[in-house]
Amino acid sequence: MTHILAIDQGTTSSRAILFDAQMKIVEMAQEEFPQHYPDSGWVEHDPDDLWQSTLRVCRAVLDKTGVAAADIAGIGITNQRETTLVWERETGHPIHNAIVWQDRRTAQFCRDWRARGEEETVTAKTGLIIDPYFSGTKLKWILDHVDGARDRARAGELLFGTVDSWLIWNLTGGRVHATDATNACRTMLYDIHKGCWSSTICGMLDIPMEMLPEVRDCAADFGTTDLLGGETPILGVAGDQQAATLGQACFAPGMLKSTYGTGCFALLNTGETPVRSTHRLLTTVAYQLDGKPTYALEGSIFIAGAVVQWLRDGLGLIDKASQTQAMAEASDPQQRVIMVPAFTGLGAPYWDPDCRGAVFGLTRNTGPREMARAALESVGYQTRDLLEAMRADWQDASERATLRVDGGMSASDWTMQFLADITGAPVDRPEITETTALGAAWLAGMRAGIYPDMASFAQGWKLERSFAPEMDEEKREAGYAAWRRAVAATRSA
Ligand code: G3P
Repeated sequence: MTHILAIDQGTTSSRAILFDAQMKIVEMAQEEFPQHYPDSGWVEHDPDDLWQSTLRVCRAVLDKTGVAAADIAGIGITNQRETTLVWERETGHPIHNAIVWQDRRTAQFCRDWRARGEEETVTAKTGLIIDPYFSGTKLKWILDHVDGARDRARAGELLFGTVDSWLIWNLTGGRVHATDATNACRTMLYDIHKGCWSSTICGMLDIPMEMLPEVRDCAADFGTTDLLGGETPILGVAGDQQAATLGQACFAPGMLKSTYGTGCFALLNTGETPVRSTHRLLTTVAYQLDGKPTYALEGSIFIAGAVVQWLRDGLGLIDKASQTQAMAEASDPQQRVIMVPAFTGLGAPYWDPDCRGAVFGLTRNTGPREMARAALESVGYQTRDLLEAMRADWQDASERATLRVDGGMSASDWTMQFLADITGAPVDRPEITETTALGAAWLAGMRAGIYPDMASFAQGWKLERSFAPEMDEEKREAGYAAWRRAVAATRSA
C-alpha cells in the first residue's frame, strides 16, 4: 500500500489528489459544481452535487493513474467548514440544501441573540463569536423551516453534519456518522475546553443532540469505503484551514499560516492553551491528535481571491486573475485608491454582516490598473488587521512572526511583497502550496504508518521564496491608517 488519497471538498469545487509514499503529488482531478443563491445573502449547495462530484473525482484520479484501491493505504478528507447539512438516517436523503458558510440568512437572529446578552456564554464555551458564519444558527434555521424537522431530529430520524460528516456517511454507506474536532469546533455547538458537544448551546438553539455526529481525533478510524473498488480506510479528517495549518507544519506555538483562496484564513498556533481573544478573533482547534487538542487563534476574512474574481466576472477588467500583477506594477503610484471588498459584510476583526463594499480615492485618472492594485492591496490590509489583533491578543506572538502563505493568490509575487511590506513581517512561500490537501494526506498517511511523524514532517517543509518587508515605516503606517479610515467610513455608510 503505497498511496494516500486526499479529498478536498471546497466551496466552489471538489478535488481528489493522489499522493505517493514520498508525499509527492501523483495526480489530481477537480470538478466545479453549481452555487445556488435563492435570496440576497443566501448561498446553498446541492448535497448530492457535493457527494457525487467528490466520488467522481476520486474515481477519475484512480482511473487516470491506474492505481487500485488495494494500493491506497488511507483516505484523508478536508473540507469547506461550517457548511450545514441535515439528512435522514434511514434513507440518507437530505431534507434541505446545504447552507453554505457564506450564507447570511441568520443575521437578524444573531443580532437578537447578541442583544439578549448571551454572547459571553457562547464565546466562553465555543471560542466563537455570534455570527451567521457558523453552523449552529444555520442548523436552527433548517429545523425551524422544514416541516416536522425538529420532532424528527428528536426522534433520532435526522442527522446533522458538516461536509466531512456528509462525505464519511456516504463513503461508508451510512455506517459511520462522525466528524473531527476541527470541524466540530466551527459549528458553535462544541465546547472546545471540555472537548464535547455543549448541551447549553444546543439548548439555546433548541437543537436535539441526538442528531450530532460523534467527534473523533483528526487522525483516527472513520470507517472504510468499498466504492473505489476495494475496502479503503478513511484515516484522516480536518477542516480545510486546519489541514493547511498542518500542511504548513505550523506545529510550534507562535507559528502562523495564511491561506488565500476565496477568502483568507490566518491561524496562529497557540499550543495546548486556548487563548481567549479580546480583539474579535476566534479561538479554534488547530488539530487534535491522540486525544490532545492544539489550539489556534483564527482570523477569517471572507473576500480575498474573490475580489480578483469580481474584477474579472463583475467588472470585466481582466480575463485572467494572473493579469492583476502586471497591472498593479504598471499602476500610477501617485494615486491612493483603497478598496474595501465587504461584498458579504466584513469578517474578523469587525464581524459586520450588514456592511457592503466601497472604493475610495477615485480620480479622473483612475483606471483598471489602479483598481487591480487596490484589489490586491485590500488583501494585504485585511491580513494586517488580523495580525494586529493576534499581536494584541497573544503576548507571545512576536512582533514580526513569519507568515507562511499558501492558496491561489500566494502565487502572485507582487501581492506577497505588498503583504510583507504592509504587515512588516517576513512572508514565506513553501515549495508545495497544495498545503490543504497535503495536511489531509499527512493525517491519513501518518495514521496508516507510511508517512513520517510530526517532527520529521516539519523538517521536510521546504521554502520556495521569502519576501522581506521593504517599505519604510512611515509609508507603511500612513497606508495602513488610510485603510483604517476607509473601513470606518464604509461601516458608517
Ligand atoms: O471557513 C470557510 C472555509 O473553510 C472555506 O474554505 O477554501 O472552501 O473557500 P474554501
